[in-house]
Amino acid sequence: MVRRDTRNWYDCMKMIGPLYLVASVLIQHASGQRVKVEPEVLSYPGQTVNLRCAFTDATGIQLTMVTWIYESKDGNRINIAVFHPNFEPNYPESPLKNRVSFAPSRPNLSSPSIQITNVKISDEGKYICEYATYPSGNEQGITYLVMLAKPTNSASITTVQAGTAPVVVARCESANGRPPAQITWVTTANGNATTTSKPGTENTVTVSSEYLMVPTPEDDGKDITCVVAHRTQVKPEIFPLKLAVQYAPQVAISGYDNNWYIGRTNVVLTCQAMGNPSPESVKWKTISGGEIPDTVQIAGNELKVLKVDDAVNITFVCEVSNSIGMSRDQVTTLVRASPLPPKSLPTGAIIGAIIGVILLLAIIGTVIAMYRKHRDKKLREGPPKYKPPPPKKTNSSGGRQLDTNHISMDEGRPLQDQYYTTQTAEPVTDLDAWHDDEDGYGEKGTEHYFSADPSGWDDPGDNEVLPSYMHTGTDTQNHQQGPTVNRGDSFVSPAMFV
Ligand SMILES: *[C@@H]1O[C@H](CO)[C@@H](O)[C@H](O)[C@H]1NC(C)=O
Ligand SMILES: *[C@@H]1O[C@H](CO)[C@@H](O)[C@H](O)[C@H]1NC(C)=O
Repeated sequence: MVRRDTRNWYDCMKMIGPLYLVASVLIQHASGQRVKVEPEVLSYPGQTVNLRCAFTDATGIQLTMVTWIYESKDGNRINIAVFHPNFEPNYPESPLKNRVSFAPSRPNLSSPSIQITNVKISDEGKYICEYATYPSGNEQGITYLVMLAKPTNSASITTVQAGTAPVVVARCESANGRPPAQITWVTTANGNATTTSKPGTENTVTVSSEYLMVPTPEDDGKDITCVVAHRTQVKPEIFPLKLAVQYAPQVAISGYDNNWYIGRTNVVLTCQAMGNPSPESVKWKTISGGEIPDTVQIAGNELKVLKVDDAVNITFVCEVSNSIGMSRDQVTTLVRASPLPPKSLPTGAIIGAIIGVILLLAIIGTVIAMYRKHRDKKLREGPPKYKPPPPKKTNSSGGRQLDTNHISMDEGRPLQDQYYTTQTAEPVTDLDAWHDDEDGYGEKGTEHYFSADPSGWDDPGDNEVLPSYMHTGTDTQNHQQGPTVNRGDSFVSPAMFV
């Protein structure tokens, strides 16, 4: 009996248990929410902050009194403001005394908000609004007061000399911020940032970042941007800078074309030099240290030979210096008895053009030949009154097949004429297109081609209208049966499909 009762009770508890758990969670949750506060309040030093508190649903509950408690970072709790409806508000001894007060000063138990004037960074911490209630006991809500300090941000470039060891090339600082700022760098230069923090004024933090890299001449002038993000800033502050890497001049002589022959006039050598700081002086010499020949005029970085003779069959040296150092380049100007045979400069282009013209002539020739053949045949047979339609292809999706069909069937003059005129109109247009293409203006070529296209394909007998680009492509392909087909195709198609 007793045993059974116990068992029943146990079974009962097994059922109630989870329910009880759920209920208690709900109650806890609800009671946690009944004291309504803002989870976080942000402020700057010197401002007045309002910490609001309210008891939302007091039905069936007796609100006795309210206490505001300050909990500092180290966990110390002190009461800073107490209100009981039967008494005056009280402000116990605390670092906030005389700066904290209920607002309104004669508070209501259901909304006992406080305000703190002239807040200090040391006021940061938890502010607990705690109600004494009956019957449920104490209930509280917690607001975190976050003290912000707007940092002063700055960035600077350090001028360095090109070298082999990592050095600081840029600095960025966010001084006296709270919370600490985040500094990042954006650059294509190849280096690393090291960021350090140190205490700033009045519980703030100063964050400094240095950008370290092995500076090379190529890095000079590269963009490097310091980005400072801080909670007090709507957007990160951006400092665009340019690396300053000093290096000795880099010198190169240009202008010698390996074709200085006796009697040639007005040839010029130019000494180009890059350096940081900008090179101050350019000095021309001969490698032997001898005098510069009389026929040579020197103006700055240019060396001009008025008339080439034996005297300039030497090695010229150009020396350039800046505050970092001096560099030189030299060129041996070989003097020839007679000029080199003239070089055809764009050999490739000319050969290409010739091949192109030959191909076009082949195409035209083929077309004319086919046209004549058809015409002759027709003349022999007499003009056809009626032509039965060609066998209908079930699979007409292949443009190529369709076209083969077209060409093999005898549509009569119009089509052939059009081929003819299209093709004769093409050479100039197409050659242009091809050349344009070579020069990198493919689109222009495409236009040319298409402009000739529509008039060339207005075939009334063609029910299966293909996109014009497809058509012209296969047209060309099917038309040349000779070994030039592939070349002709590849010759035309870039202009069409680009
Ligand atoms: C940057 O850091 C990487 C890895 O931490 C290191 O290998 C490299 O040498 C550093 N570069 C410089 C310029 O300090
Ligand atoms: C220039 O010098 C080279 C040898 O350095 C010599 O072969 C050539 O004949 C010289 N030219 C003239 C025009 O004297």
